[in-house]
Amino acid sequence: MDFGIKNRLSKIFNPKTGKTVMLAVDHGYFQGPTTGLRDMKNIVPLVPQADCLFATRGILRTSIDPAVRTSVCLRVSGGPSILGELSNEDIIISMEEALRLNASGVGMSIFVGAKNEDRTISNLGRLVNEAQRYGMPVLAITAVGKEMARDARYLGLACRMAAEIGANFVKTYYCEDFHKVVEGCPVPIVIAGGKKLPEMDALKMTSGAIKAGAKGVDMGRNIFQSDSPVGMMKAVRAIVHKGVSVEEAFEIYRAGGKSLSAETIDEKMEKA
Ligand code: R5P
Repeated sequence: MDFGIKNRLSKIFNPKTGKTVMLAVDHGYFQGPTTGLRDMKNIVPLVPQADCLFATRGILRTSIDPAVRTSVCLRVSGGPSILGELSNEDIIISMEEALRLNASGVGMSIFVGAKNEDRTISNLGRLVNEAQRYGMPVLAITAVGKEMARDARYLGLACRMAAEIGANFVKTYYCEDFHKVVEGCPVPIVIAGGKKLPEMDALKMTSGAIKAGAKGVDMGRNIFQSDSPVGMMKAVRAIVHKGVSVEEAFEIYRAGGKSLSAETIDEKMEKA
């Protein structure tokens, strides 16, 4: 890997911990005004807490302060809505646009086992070819159709394919025996949160993923749909970057992210 890719990856993965808390707010690109993102002002206090924001260009242009220190990973695939055939995605954003938006990475979905799996895999290959030219890291997202089992065998297949095609890191879902998915994938894995869970369960999932070898999260609904989004953000950060227990993280969430432990964790990270 050359300097450009490594430098951009260091804006996504905290060099002190090698891990990342990405905030996913791209849902509207196929779901429309998702609960919690209807008014994008809701995410303003969350953005500075994230290592990286995963978003579309429309949201960056309209709703994000360009002076924010948080890096950006740009969603570059799209096409079908939630009403259509989801695997029918293409690359819809140019590399020039990603560079203009000062993205530190670009992300697209692959749909292994779905109707258009071969096209989405070819699209990933083409995106990697182009991104390589500009030193741009590529995130492949293993989208899971309704009919697919979210198990280690399927997710392991999809993550390994993404890495073999050339993705620099992969986003997938947590599952039983998640360590098998991680072991079979030669590039870093981050987990999506999926549908909103009770906060304790979301924190257990985060902790389980990190213990199994995930390098972080790219989480959306379990943060911005929480009754305390800032609290959840800080709780997830504490697990990912400091390895705190689920119970400690839950306390951070319950205190709305304002507990002594949350502050202490952030202070320690600043000084580390
Ligand atoms: C899904 O394709 C979107 O790209 C989201 O970024 C991803 O699912 C993560 O969000 P959530 O944690 O809400 O699943």
